[in-house]
Amino acid sequence: MTKQIIKILAIETSCDETAASVIEMVDGEPVVLSNIISSQIDLHAKTGGVVPEVASRAHMEAIVPVVAEALIAAQNNKNQEPDTKQVPNLNTKNLKVDTCDLSEICNLDFEIYPKAIKLLGDITHIAVTAGPGLIGSLLVGFNAAKSISYARDLPIVPINHIEGHIYSAFAEYSQKPEVRSQKLFPVLALTVSGGHTSITLMKDHGIYETIGQTLDDAVGEAYDKVAKLLGLGYPGGPIISKMAEKFRNESNNKFRQNNENTDLLAHLLTGRLIVFPRPMIGDGTFNFSFSGLKTAVLTKVKNILAENNFESVDQIPLELKQEIAAAFEEAVSDVLCSKLGRAISKYQPETVVFAGGVSANRYLADKLQAECEKSKESKIVFLTPKREMCGDNAAMIGLSAYYHILRGDVSAWSDIKVDSNWELVSD
Ligand code: KG4
Ligand code: ZN
Repeated sequence: MTKQIIKILAIETSCDETAASVIEMVDGEPVVLSNIISSQIDLHAKTGGVVPEVASRAHMEAIVPVVAEALIAAQNNKNQEPDTKQVPNLNTKNLKVDTCDLSEICNLDFEIYPKAIKLLGDITHIAVTAGPGLIGSLLVGFNAAKSISYARDLPIVPINHIEGHIYSAFAEYSQKPEVRSQKLFPVLALTVSGGHTSITLMKDHGIYETIGQTLDDAVGEAYDKVAKLLGLGYPGGPIISKMAEKFRNESNNKFRQNNENTDLLAHLLTGRLIVFPRPMIGDGTFNFSFSGLKTAVLTKVKNILAENNFESVDQIPLELKQEIAAAFEEAVSDVLCSKLGRAISKYQPETVVFAGGVSANRYLADKLQAECEKSKESKIVFLTPKREMCGDNAAMIGLSAYYHILRGDVSAWSDIKVDSNWELVSD
């Protein structure tokens, strides 16, 4: 039997990052050779959120340079012979995640393009995010991928973006020698990003059941909206989580100066005056709703303005904004932990995954991990992606595609469709 050769070029453009990655099978394991991301954050910060038309135009500008850069970076990394033997499975140890400044790549010597085209000759499969996401953004990467598939006569693998986020956490499985001997499935995956909040039960590669999802705003969206209404920047997640952390640390410090070193008591005694609702926390389902929480924050802010005769949120003292951020994050954390805890009791997973842009939040990750440790004599393996793999990237799309390819689940360019509302279901 001839050995299967797999070298995937993966493309992701579902929202506001233009990303490309090359993944190669080495000794029967997928190895990430490059992971290039061109972020549009600066562009969208001006408007305090993603403007879909602006996003798709920016993808148009970035797509060719980013793909070329991914092909060239893969070749360079390969020449450096990363030590794939040490961490064989889903190796991201030597992975260089390059957040690239587009003006830099666009100014690159034009020689990169013929060189990149030559390197395309080694690619065996194309992978691309086909949904869910912003349609104008998806179409840019999708059509680029389709064109390469057509021109090079290569099979193509359309990937669901949520599946990609889940696989970004699986990359960590192989990094933990102590858990590799344990069973991976069934997996419960909590995927929390700017566009999605869902709990998925995964019984094997390609076998999915969505057991719960948000009925309105996603968690990341709620962070972004709360930051906006407090007059903070975009994206709101990292800003709000930093402010919340500051509040928690200062509350603890104040308490420590006068009392014993007990964090729990600190929270009680410093008197967290602001408490927001925990939407749907006890409704018996695994669904979420975060738009009411955002409205509760808005009402609080309006009251603060009225009570103090402030004309704008800029007059609200920083400490009070930090307290609002902490109270908001506590409500999010309680809801996520409660729903995950109940899902663990019902589905008894071997592994819990926390993935998506919001999984960059270490406070939430620690709380969710603690929730896993409560059950089943702490035997659940908790996986969350490396920080640079939490947000949108193409390596996660290539890693998902790798398992589709092993199952023979590949398509022809003429047979695939983009679907901005694509629900994650079994193959
Ligand atoms: O997965 P992602 O990059 O894009 C989508 O697929 O939506 O997620 C972006 C989201 C944004 O809403 C951002 O505010 C949020 O992830 N985010 C965070 C943190 N870092 C990014 N939310 C909470 N805490 C963070 N540290
Ligand atoms: Zn995402």
